[in-house]
Amino acid sequence: MPPIVEAFAQAAKNAMAAGFDGVEVHGANGYLIDQFLRDSANQRSDSYGGTLEQRARFLFEVLTAVCAAIGSDRVGLRLSPLNSYNDMKDSDPLAWTAYLAEQLNRFDLAYLHIMRADFFGLQKADVMPLARAHYKGVLIGNMGYTPTEAEAATTEGKLDAVAFGNGFLANPDFPARVKAGAAMNVPDQSTFYTPGAKGYTDYPTL
Ligand SMILES: Cc1cc2nc3c(=O)[nH]c(=O)nc-3n(C[C@H](O)[C@H](O)[C@H](O)COP(=O)(O)O)c2cc1C
Repeated sequence: MPPIVEAFAQAAKNAMAAGFDGVEVHGANGYLIDQFLRDSANQRSDSYGGTLEQRARFLFEVLTAVCAAIGSDRVGLRLSPLNSYNDMKDSDPLAWTAYLAEQLNRFDLAYLHIMRADFFGLQKADVMPLARAHYKGVLIGNMGYTPTEAEAATTEGKLDAVAFGNGFLANPDFPARVKAGAAMNVPDQSTFYTPGAKGYTDYPTL
């Protein structure tokens, strides 16, 4: 096993030893795995580059190792077929999504978590229905869902769950506010990705 793949498995074991319930393998947003997956970044001419199958090889090796280390029911995966963050782009995000969603069935993961949009609005496509059609396990959606849309999507069976990002950051009591139908604090984008506690721990509760 390549040392880098072994490092993923060891990190997962460390997380479990530290008391976590599971790990989410980060295959999104231009980080290492995503750099293999998307063809704007992957310029390799060896067996880890070229076709979609070969670009996915690194992800599948990581998932195999992490699942063997801690059990597949403790492993989720996050993907971002459209996000151009970190200069990522794929020439065919729909084929990419369909292929990966189909292939991921064999890993029997706890869930697949997909970001449905692009932070910068540059790449657009309707990836979630495709993911739903090909992936047989638990599917989580993210990016731009309101609680109302999330409820509709889960009730209609389009998704099994929705992950909230900005809303949760700005509302430490987010679930209580959703239940109460209360107004939400508006996230302050100027404090995103900045150091210090401001914008992370100082939003008021109801
Ligand atoms: C301050 C901040 C930091 C974030 N850091 C990460 C990160 O490290 N990795 C990641 O994949 N997404 C990160 N995100 C993106 C969120 O996971 C999520 O995708 C985003 O907030 C969109 O979800 P939403 O539409 O529910 O707000 C971050 C978001 C914010 C606001």
